[in-house]
Amino acid sequence: METQDTMISESHLDLAIKDLFQHIQFQAQPEGLYDPLRYMIAIGGKRLRPRLCLTTFGLYKNAFGPEILEPAAGLEVFHTFTLIHDDIMDRSPLRRGHDTVWKKWNEDTAILSGDVMCIDAYKRMAKAPADVLPSVLSLFSQTAAEVCDGQQLDMDFESLDVVPMADYMQMIGLKTAVLIACSAQMGAIIAGAPEEECRAIYAYGYDLGLAFQVADDYLDAYGDAAVFGKPIGGDIVNNKKSWLTVKALEGKAEGLQEALAMPAETPEQKAHKIATVKAVYESLDISAQARKEIAALHKSAVDKLQGFDPQKREVLENFAHKLVGRTV
Ligand code: IPE
Ligand code: IPE
Ligand code: MG
Ligand code: MG
Ligand code: MG
Repeated sequence: METQDTMISESHLDLAIKDLFQHIQFQAQPEGLYDPLRYMIAIGGKRLRPRLCLTTFGLYKNAFGPEILEPAAGLEVFHTFTLIHDDIMDRSPLRRGHDTVWKKWNEDTAILSGDVMCIDAYKRMAKAPADVLPSVLSLFSQTAAEVCDGQQLDMDFESLDVVPMADYMQMIGLKTAVLIACSAQMGAIIAGAPEEECRAIYAYGYDLGLAFQVADDYLDAYGDAAVFGKPIGGDIVNNKKSWLTVKALEGKAEGLQEALAMPAETPEQKAHKIATVKAVYESLDISAQARKEIAALHKSAVDKLQGFDPQKREVLENFAHKLVGRTV
């Protein structure tokens, strides 16, 4: 049984992440296919999923080799693929503070570059050690399909008048939480962690992912665009059933349906609709309720760690705190 002395420090992890994405290689040509991949990886992002994967691996091991670095990179590549396609679906012009791929190139490029990125992610997953490869590939394939399920529900919900909170939670569980849970569990699986701990780590990652998506919904309306890297109010413009909308719809607020039905074609209409919907949210104190929900989901995530020894628990508690404990 390895002890705290063998756990990997945060500064070592920071360096590993930096090095991993500075040196990541994609095929050189055709440039029209691979340049968007290089662009998306170069413009950064939080690298949350590979960081979580390396963090859980580091609970059990004291050095990072290709057996974990390649799958960890694969998680980021897969996530980035989902963002490229998500930005087409959500008509989003900005990502990580820069033009989205469909905007900078075109939709056809965004589709095909996204496709090849998904395949690249699988190649990296396949570098997991042979003894855990079946578990890794089965976890990853299941997760990848669930993300698609979630994205479809997200789009289906745009045209519904009302979405029950339970359906919303299921949708964000699929589109966002499963990949975060998978990232957390993959590090533990590749490190050879006991099955029970792998399961608890998945449950922790899932609830953390729910908290993270509710925070993303909150920041979409109340964040600082310069930090968030995406335009504020995009969910309102797109009629997304975000946590804020779903909660407001529970309250049958005066003027909400009218506000949600407002057109949002021109920049003036968009600004007017965003302000009107946010005024309804404020009349119901929705932003404070969202912050409470994020805190409750955060707590639920760390509650999954009760069976862990204190050093391991502390590492994962710190990770959760940094991710969602001070977002809002
Ligand atoms: C964006 O994910 C999509 C959501 C699940 C909310 P991130 O917020 O992790 O995006 P990057 O990778 O940091 O850009
Ligand atoms: C993200 O949902 C889920 C996936 C990309 C799979 P959002 O549509 O809320 O993500 P952002 O806000 O565009 O990053
Ligand atoms: Mg979306
Ligand atoms: Mg989006
Ligand atoms: Mg969002």
